[in-house]
Parts: sequence; structure tokens; C-alpha cells
Amino acid sequence: MTSDVRSSVDLRNQRLLTWYTTHRRDLPWRTSTDPYRVLVSEIMLQQTQVDRVITRFRSFIARWPTADDLADATADEVLSEWSGLGYNSRALRLKEAASVVSDRGWPTTAEGLLTLPGVGPYTAAAVASICFGQQVPAVDTNLRRVLSRWHGEALDGRGLREYANSIVGSPAGDWNQALMDLGSMVCRPRDPSCARCPVAESCEDPAIYVPPPRQSRFHGSNRQLRGALVRASLEGRDLTEAGMELGRSQDQINETTAALVDEGLIPAD
Ligand code: ADE
Repeated sequence: MTSDVRSSVDLRNQRLLTWYTTHRRDLPWRTSTDPYRVLVSEIMLQQTQVDRVITRFRSFIARWPTADDLADATADEVLSEWSGLGYNSRALRLKEAASVVSDRGWPTTAEGLLTLPGVGPYTAAAVASICFGQQVPAVDTNLRRVLSRWHGEALDGRGLREYANSIVGSPAGDWNQALMDLGSMVCRPRDPSCARCPVAESCEDPAIYVPPPRQSRFHGSNRQLRGALVRASLEGRDLTEAGMELGRSQDQINETTAALVDEGLIPAD
């Protein structure tokens, strides 16, 4: 990266982080960097919209305030608290993860967090950056869309990870969450509000990843996504990437993956 490019990346990150200080959503899991609270929120957010997670997160944390408390709960208790959030396997794996950290303590890097039950690359990077200050981008479809627009090219797979690693701002926990907020409030999939965007000046192409109109009953269907995810799992490919290739949102990919795990059609990660 030339020094000119470096300074424009730094300026964009600075503007993004300044915007985040005044526009950040006031969410209950953002009041501390306790890895337990952040992990619970990230697992809930894998399948459920932010608005619905807020109350469920509060009651879950009120009932089991620490990983030790959750590790001591019974599976039935956890499943009943989880009811309505869907995909019970996630709740059970969260309880297993709580038992592991209760015995051995928290891994403090994304690589270590990946060894916990139910924790994939995105969640590991989110927790490592928000709670342990690791300088890693949390790559999901939201970040892919925003970074592709900044870069002016549809990014995927390794190219996306390399670009994200090369531009991640500091502190990465705030940078990741600023991108989540920018992606959900401003740089939305269909109608980016560039007039309100703090970094519009250094964005190459806001039209990238505007979802195409549905082409047929099969294209864009859940059946198409399910087939692609099962194939990717059999081939040992990354499921998020397989879903991204079909232009699907992270929520949709997570939700369908969780359903396939619950149905026993793909193994739990
Ligand atoms: N979606 C996933 N993780 C999130 C977070 N930490 N804040 C807001 N939305 C999210």
C-alpha cells in the first residue's frame, strides 16, 4: 500500500469512527466488553433481528449473568429461555461453550475462540476485537457489501479477507461495530443513503451489491440456498461464502444454516 493510499484509508477510518461515537446504536451488549455478554449477543444475532434480540438478551443475562452460571444451567432450562429465538442447537452449543470457558478460561484470540462450540470465524473475530482488542475484521455479508463499495469491486473469499485485514481501523472492536451500524442504517443493501454517509467521499461505487431483482421462483429461493449450503458443507467449503455467491444476506445464511444443522443435514461447526 502506498503512503497516499494509507493516508486515505486512515482518514476514512477516522471519519467512520468519529461518526460511530455520535451515531452508534445504544444496544445492551455494548455497555461492557465482557466476552460472555458479547458472545451471547452474537449467537442470538446470528438468527434474529437486533430489535427482537434486545429484550431476549436482557432476560437471558438476568437469568445467567456469567459463563459459570450458564454452565450450571440444565439444557431444559436453557432451551426454555431460548424459546421463540429458534434453532435450539445454537442454545445448546452456547451452553457447551460456557462450560469450556468455565473450566479453562477465555481464549483471547480469534484463533482460540474458534475452538469453542458454535463459534465460527465471524463470531470469533467479533469477540476477539470487541473484548480482547485484537486487530481483526469481523467479516460477514454486511462488511463485504460496505468494503466492496469502498473498494469499487465486488470482493469475496480470500480477496475480501485480505482487503479487510489491510484496512481494519483501530480499535478494531469499534471499527467492526461502526461498520455493522453503517451497514444497517446508511449503507443498506438496496438503498444506500450516501447523502448521510460519513465516508461517501472515499467510496468508489455504492451500487455494488445492490441485490438483483428475483429472476425465477428457484433463483432467490430458500430451496436454492439450502442446496448450495448442503453442497458446500459436503465439499468442505465455507458456508458463508457459498451463500454470499448467491447474493444472500448474513442473516439469511445463518438462519438457513442453523435450520440445516437442526435437521441433521449438515454437521454443527
Ligand atoms: N449484528 C451482529 N453483531 C452485532 C453487534 N455487535 N451490534 C449490532 N449488530 C450486530
